[in-house]
Amino acid sequence: MRLKTDILVIGSGIAGLSFAIKASRYSRVLIITKKDSAESNTNYAQGGIATVISPNDSYKMHIDDTLDCGAGLCHRDAVEQIVTNGPELIKELIELGVNFSREEGKLELGREGGHSQKRIIHAKDLTGKEIERALLYSVTHNKNIKILEHHSAIDLITEHNFRRRTTKGKRNCYGAYIYDEKKNKILTVLSELTVICTGGIGQVYLHTTNPVIATGDGIAMGYRSGCRIGDMEFVQFHPTSLYQGISEGNNSQAFLISEAMRGAGAILRTKNGKKFMQRYDRRRSLAPRDIVARAIDNEMKRTGDDFVYLDCTPLSKRKIMHEFPNIYKKCLSIGLDISRSFIPVVPAAHYGCGGIISDLNGRTSLGRLFVLGESSMTGVHGANRLASNSLLEALVFADKASKVCEKDMVTANDKNHSNIPDWDASGTENTEEWILISQNKYEIKQIMSNYVGIVRSNLRLYRALRRIKLIREEIEVFYKKTRVNRELLELRNMALISYLIIRSALMRKESRGLHYSTDYPKTSKTFLKDTIISNKTV
Ligand code: FAD
Ligand code: SIN
Repeated sequence: MRLKTDILVIGSGIAGLSFAIKASRYSRVLIITKKDSAESNTNYAQGGIATVISPNDSYKMHIDDTLDCGAGLCHRDAVEQIVTNGPELIKELIELGVNFSREEGKLELGREGGHSQKRIIHAKDLTGKEIERALLYSVTHNKNIKILEHHSAIDLITEHNFRRRTTKGKRNCYGAYIYDEKKNKILTVLSELTVICTGGIGQVYLHTTNPVIATGDGIAMGYRSGCRIGDMEFVQFHPTSLYQGISEGNNSQAFLISEAMRGAGAILRTKNGKKFMQRYDRRRSLAPRDIVARAIDNEMKRTGDDFVYLDCTPLSKRKIMHEFPNIYKKCLSIGLDISRSFIPVVPAAHYGCGGIISDLNGRTSLGRLFVLGESSMTGVHGANRLASNSLLEALVFADKASKVCEKDMVTANDKNHSNIPDWDASGTENTEEWILISQNKYEIKQIMSNYVGIVRSNLRLYRALRRIKLIREEIEVFYKKTRVNRELLELRNMALISYLIIRSALMRKESRGLHYSTDYPKTSKTFLKDTIISNKTV
């Protein structure tokens, strides 16, 4: 089956939905999304959105905090863009119906690691859910937007698919092949412009705060089609996810204990109750995430303990119940009253700073293809993302992209798609061997967690590379002869994402931000600005 639309948006988190709402003013938009519309990293965001509204704050302070956290690799123009456009776009979100927490009528501001000021607006500790609710309400009441759930993008359609030998110059994107999970069919979706908004990569690790959709599909599709991919070595581990024993299977998602709790006064302690952050950074529990996660990792290795504690008892029960009701409820459900008892926490893979390289308007290196949100590498985050800057980045870049797409629609407007072939499933069949998929998935997660985690070394990275290469070869053979389904697509993408992370990590011969190597424990003076990888075989 073939579908046509003006703009195809892949993914329904903050990036995809906020872009679609704006683009619907001048075009028909089709959103396709892998599961239920709300299932996304966005939906689980807790802390909030960083933005300058306090009279004690300034754009300069927010910019400086972001650059400082990014350890010398942020692109200043991109940082300035998100910071200075933030307040206006937050106003738009409020007008759209997002209910942020207020204090005496004014937006309530929280604080998180690496921020020199209180500047995090939030909806209690369920900020993402509230934003997703309001955006989805607007999308489902918009007659120019159609949304298809349980549809997974497989690959982008480029010249590669139909005029391979005659193509010269820049490659373009004409839509995507999409797997309809309910009907078990593959659609050809043709579009003038395509926007990748597929979110993050956390699921390549065993212990992650990300939901199961976060398998890096968009980045993998972009790489296969020839997009430039950047800074994949910078995987952010959130310092404090709830420790609940070792129960990590293929589909696990760790519950996050928001950094905003440390912003409000909670303190990290070792299992025997001792404070330790003073030995690592003057900002103690409120140092940037790379420093806190490495400190926890070091303490756990030093003591042999499985977790450290977050002590929330300095906060009053009233404050906990008022600002963190969801975290309170979750912990109580496992028998922990956090107003009296410490919370066992461990670091967990949380955010991929790298992705498909984009310019300041979300344009990729492929014509007619944009990328927004966590799948993109805009230069905002550098070597380490500042807390609560990613919802902001998605909002601002979606706004910029929606403006240039209006102009691009005019030039992209060629309706002759007759030479684009439908998906060719010949030579593939259903297999009896589905167990291989879950085994491969688990193997990838183990390799990434054991060898490509918070602390890395050449020995571990090369070991991981050899194993991932072998797994990728096996998966490609399996993929060519097997009828596509979502699990198989995700597995193939996870193997590729792991490969890109390892290759980027090996390219960086220093320790910087989130990438720490015991072979190169210092930052280098002659450092690589961005690690860029592109697929030379297309
Ligand atoms: P997502 O919100 O992840 O949306 C991706 C969408 O793409 C989903 O709809 C998914 O189903 C779809 N998709 C994926 N693959 C395919 C495919 N192949 N085909 C079709 N659809 C596909 N950031 C902050 O700034 N502040 C916070 O407080 C904060 N808290 C966080 C808490 C948690 C627990 C987590 C996990 C992240 C948090 N982050 C926070 C990070 C932030 O939430 C994400 O970076 C951001 O929401 C990403 O938005 P997105 O639209 O790019 O992707
Ligand atoms: C948190 O609430 O700790 C998450 C914030 C973020 O990832 O930006």
